[in-house]
Amino acid sequence: MCRKEVKMDRRIVITGACGQLGRALNQVLKDRTDLTIINTTTREPTAYCPIILDITNSVAVMNLIQELKPEVIINCAAHTGVDLCESDQERAYRINAIGPKNLAVAAEALEAKLIHVSTDYVFDGESEVPYREEDKTNPQSVYGSTKLAGEEFVRTLCENYNIIRTAWLYGEGKNFVKTMLALSEKNNEIRVVNDQYGSPTSALSLARAITFLMDTDGPGIYHGTCEGSATWYEFAVEIFRLAGKEVTVLPITTEEYKTPAKRPKYSVLKNNNLKEAGYTLPFWKDALKEYMEQYNIGGK
Ligand SMILES: NC(=O)c1ccc[n+]([C@@H]2O[C@H](COP(=O)([O-])OP(=O)(O)OC[C@H]3O[C@@H](n4cnc5c(N)ncnc54)[C@H](OP(=O)(O)O)[C@@H]3O)[C@@H](O)[C@H]2O)c1
Repeated sequence: MCRKEVKMDRRIVITGACGQLGRALNQVLKDRTDLTIINTTTREPTAYCPIILDITNSVAVMNLIQELKPEVIINCAAHTGVDLCESDQERAYRINAIGPKNLAVAAEALEAKLIHVSTDYVFDGESEVPYREEDKTNPQSVYGSTKLAGEEFVRTLCENYNIIRTAWLYGEGKNFVKTMLALSEKNNEIRVVNDQYGSPTSALSLARAITFLMDTDGPGIYHGTCEGSATWYEFAVEIFRLAGKEVTVLPITTEEYKTPAKRPKYSVLKNNNLKEAGYTLPFWKDALKEYMEQYNIGGK
């Protein structure tokens, strides 16, 4: 991989632009005068997201990419409801696997670069050390296996691709930080799982890493998570500490908090490839502090 010469007036198509990562990317790229950002959504078009695109529709994807001729496509669209995917496998496969397939075919035809976002849930969580990019995948849930199928389509159908696997994402949208804060409004005690380990990652930190990848050449899989690791319990404790909230957080086991989808016990990722390319994400507690300050949550 190498840094490439940056051209002016490059078009960037962002799919799923109304999601957490899509919004963070727009925030990070808003002052880049060399770029034209084209946001797409499946919903009612708005000034922010003016173009409708369902990535599961291969004809619509090809037509739009042919019309816009972007230099880079960033796929932030996904079915991210990990538990919902278990009961809606067909839809999960269409969005998480067929969607990236359609984008990969279109990117290849138009010689665009495709940056596709994937997940730590492609691993089984049985490791005791952080997963490297080349480690064996073995998803344990429908979400994880459909995301892995999406990765495989991207890798095999498109020459100029980057896959970036992230984890425990929070930004502008529904996420763990907001859930914890909402729960604390009505409860003095909150029970949180303390035997699953991962790396909480702010959408903003991930978006910055993606913009770094945008300006690089060469295909590859990257891990893109904030540095360090925590359990959900430790993550919750830090959220309340930063928010200055007096809440009792009780550690519980996965066994005590049953969910339809199986989660990996340990899905900490090692960002080897990004670091080798010269990019390091922030420590998770620093990124969380930045997020809380940005949204005026608490004051510590
Ligand atoms: N959230 C996490 O904790 C987490 C963890 C690991 C990896 N990831 C990965 O990170 C990426 C971004 O996640 P996120 O948290 O930003 O997701 P998000 O907030 O749930 O946003 C996903 C977006 O996908 C769009 N979408 C759904 N179906 C679509 C379709 N058929 N065609 C086009 N767009 C569609 C939706 O947009 P509209 O409804 O507006 O069209 C939605 O806004 C995803 O690839 C996800 O798998 C997330």
